[in-house]
Amino acid sequence: MDGNGRWARKRGMPREYGHSVGARVFKAVSTYCQDRGVEYVTTYALSTENLKNRSRQELNAIFLLLKEYIKDALVTAPKRNTRVKFPGDRSAFSPELIEMMDEVEEKTSGYKYLLNIAVNYGGRDEIVRAVNRLIAGGYKSVTEDDITSALDTGNCPPPDMIIRTGCELRLSNFMLWQAAYSEFYFTDTLWPDFGEKDVDAAIEEYSRRQRRFGSA
Ligand code: IPE
Ligand code: MG
Repeated sequence: MDGNGRWARKRGMPREYGHSVGARVFKAVSTYCQDRGVEYVTTYALSTENLKNRSRQELNAIFLLLKEYIKDALVTAPKRNTRVKFPGDRSAFSPELIEMMDEVEEKTSGYKYLLNIAVNYGGRDEIVRAVNRLIAGGYKSVTEDDITSALDTGNCPPPDMIIRTGCELRLSNFMLWQAAYSEFYFTDTLWPDFGEKDVDAAIEEYSRRQRRFGSA
């Protein structure tokens, strides 16, 4: 979901305004993805690097939006058959936020459509925490399957397609392990401008890709 800050600045508004519009857009877009039959949606809401390098003021605004999102999800997710999860290292968060995340994860755990909201998430950090979990569990050597299931994303299938908005052509530490065979879709559209027609365009493009997974 890249481009919130630039979108707001272009309008002479503070970056935080871009995040609040971005959060609204995420709700609409994730709902539309489900309407289009996408069963697994993951959003990169805040990276481990964002948490280290953004101002306190911007981070506070993002955490407030996250809390509002969770309060809303407690009511709306069950109605939409949606399971909400938060991949990422939540140990850096306030006890209040951790409790809210645990609560919505627990209350929605039985539903069909998965919505992963990655916060304080980094692909490298996730792999390191996964390996440490396995070591703590007594593993002396590991397989690819061991690491996959020890990741925060657990048994969620790897992403078929990764969409990045906001002009940048990089992965920025997103799902490094899981992205091994993902299709990439980059668009100049800034996240707050992303909408249903952009989802349609991405799905259309996906249908044209030939996935070979290393075969001839
Ligand atoms: C993405 O928008 C959302 C977060 C990282 C929280 P940015 O905040 O990166 O917006 P730009 O890239 O500065 O426009
Ligand atoms: Mg950015």
